Amino acid sequence: ASVAGGDPKRPLIGFKAVPVSKDDTVHVPEGYVAEVLIPWGTPIHSDGPAWKKNATNSARDQAVQVGFNHDGMHFFPFDTRGRMKSRGGKHDNNGAGLLVLNHEYTDPAMLTIDGLEGDMTLEKARKHQHAHGVSVVSVRQQRDGSWKNVDSPFNRRVHVNTPVRFSGPAAGSPKLKAKTEPRGTLNNCSMGHTPWGTYVTCEENWNQYFGTTAKGHEATAEEKRYGLPTGGTDYRWEEVDERFDLVKDPHEQFRFGWCVEIDPFDPDQVPVKRTALGRVKHENCHFAESNGRVVVYTGDDQNGEYIYKYVSAAPWRSMRARGKSPLDEGTLYVARFNEDGTGTWLPLVFGQGALTKANGWADQADVLVRTRRAGDAVGATKMDRPEWITENTKTGHVFCTLTNGSSGPHPANPRKPNPYGHIIRWMEKHGDKTGTEFDWDIFVIAGDPEKDPMVNINGDSFGSPDGIWGDPHGRIWIQTDVSNSTQHLKEYEHLGNNMMLCADPTTREIRRFLTGPKGCEVTGVIATPDMRTMFVNIQHPGESTKAIGEPTAKNPQAVSSWPEHDPKGRPRPSTIVIRRKDGGVIGS
Ligand code: FEO
Ligand code: CA
Ligand code: CA
Ligand code: CA
Repeated sequence: ASVAGGDPKRPLIGFKAVPVSKDDTVHVPEGYVAEVLIPWGTPIHSDGPAWKKNATNSARDQAVQVGFNHDGMHFFPFDTRGRMKSRGGKHDNNGAGLLVLNHEYTDPAMLTIDGLEGDMTLEKARKHQHAHGVSVVSVRQQRDGSWKNVDSPFNRRVHVNTPVRFSGPAAGSPKLKAKTEPRGTLNNCSMGHTPWGTYVTCEENWNQYFGTTAKGHEATAEEKRYGLPTGGTDYRWEEVDERFDLVKDPHEQFRFGWCVEIDPFDPDQVPVKRTALGRVKHENCHFAESNGRVVVYTGDDQNGEYIYKYVSAAPWRSMRARGKSPLDEGTLYVARFNEDGTGTWLPLVFGQGALTKANGWADQADVLVRTRRAGDAVGATKMDRPEWITENTKTGHVFCTLTNGSSGPHPANPRKPNPYGHIIRWMEKHGDKTGTEFDWDIFVIAGDPEKDPMVNINGDSFGSPDGIWGDPHGRIWIQTDVSNSTQHLKEYEHLGNNMMLCADPTTREIRRFLTGPKGCEVTGVIATPDMRTMFVNIQHPGESTKAIGEPTAKNPQAVSSWPEHDPKGRPRPSTIVIRRKDGGVIGS
C-alpha cells in the first residue's frame, strides 16, 4: 500500500490540525498516538544502571545511559532477509532497526543534585561530558504496535571522552596537534546520513565549553571569530579538566566544530572527523546525490553566518571502491545569494580567488580550520541563523530554515529585525547539485500575522523554524525552537509551546501536527521507510522560561514534569514515537 507519489487527486496532508498549546504534554492529531521512548538516563544495555530520578547516577552510569537533550536523529532499518544492515528498498524492516540520536547539551539544574554550584569536581564535569554526544540504540516494534529499545551488539554511546580520529585535508594540520590524543564530540545538534549507511553528527556551539582560569587572557583572532570566552565558562570544565582550558591547551579548541562520521553498524569503529566539510558551528548536514557525486549542504547557526555545500571529487561509489572516503576529497563552497533571486556557490579552495598565500592563507588545511574567515574573504552572504537543510524529495528543491536574526535587510533575509525567522528555498541550475549556480526564493516568512503584516503563512502560525525534513512522499516537516529567552516576548504571546508542522510544498499550506510540553524544543524527526512510525525528539522540557520560572537543582520541576509527572521526579528529554491508530501513513 505505497502512498509514495500518491493519488494525485488526494491531498498530501490529511490530518486535522492541532491548536496552539501551553499544556505540559504532547498533543498530536485525532487518530494518532504518541508514546515516550528512551528518555534521558535509559540504560543502553538492559543490565546497565537504572536511571535515578533524584539525579544521583554517577558519571560512570551516565556513560552507559542515553544522554541528555535529544536532537537530530536517524532510523537505520534492519533487513527483513536477516542482514544486519538494510541496503534500502523493498527489504527494509519497518519494525526493527537502529535509532541513532544526538545529545546536544546538558542542563545543570537537571543533571546533578546540586547543579554546578559550589566546588567544581571532575566527577560532575564527567557526568556532563558523558551526557553529550550520540546514542545508538536498537529498537523494535511490539505485537501491540508500540516500540521498545532492545539489547543488540550495536548499542553504544559516543561522548566527550570517546577516542576519535581526523581525516581529510586538515587532518595533519599543526593546529590540530594538542596535548592529548583526539577525543570526543561536543554540542551535537543535528546530523545527516550518508548514502553508504553511516551517520554524521554535527558539532554546533562547541565554543561555549572552552574557557580559562588564567587572568587577563586576551582572545586570539580565531577565538574572537568563533566566540570563545576569555574567562570561565558556565560548564566550569576548564577548572577540573585541562583540555578545556584554552590557555593551558590552546589547540584543543581546533578539534571541534566538525562533522563526525559514525558507523552505527560497527560498534568498534572510531568516529571520524571529516575536515573537508569545514569547521563552523554546524547545524545539520543534508546529504544528496547528483551525477553520482555526494553533495552535502550544511549551515553555520549564528546570526550573520553562512550556508555551505560540499561536492565529492568523483562519484561516491567509485571513490569507495578505491578505498577512499567521498568525504575526504572534494570541494567546499559557500553561498552568495544575489539580490535578483540568483545565487552562486563560491569555492573555498586554497590558491583560488582571495584565498592565496599573499592574503595570508597557508594551505587548504588553513582554509578549512578557519572556514568562517574563508567565507568572509570570498564574499558570502550573511544569513539569519542558518539551521537545518533538507530537500523536497519529489522536486529536488533545497530548503533551509533561518530561525531568526538581524543580518538583513537583503532580499534573502527580508525582515530586520527578524524575531520569527523564515524558510529559504533554492533550485540548483538544471537540477545539478554539483554546479555553482542556483535560483532561490523565500518559501515562507514565519510569525504571528496579527503582529506582523510581513508574515505570509498559508495556514497555522509558528515562529523560529529549526528542524526541517522532507519525507519520502514530498511533505516538508517543520519543527520550532522558540528559545526560552524569547518565548516571553509579546511577538510570541499567541504561539504557545514549541511545535511541529507539516507543509505541502506545492500549495504552501502549513498545518500544525504536534505541540510539545512546557519549556521544550521540538527537534529531530525521522520515520520508518513505510512512513507508518515517526520518531520525534522532545528536547529540554522544563528549561527555564522568563515567563514561567527558573528550575533549580532543588526544584527541577519549576516549569515542567513531563513525561512522568512524578512529584519526586524531574523532566526528561525523550524520543516520542508517533503512529496512526489505523496503522496508516503519517501525515496523509
Ligand atoms: Fe542546536 Fe542551531 O540548533
Ligand atoms: Ca537546532
Ligand atoms: Ca535553534
Ligand atoms: Ca535549541
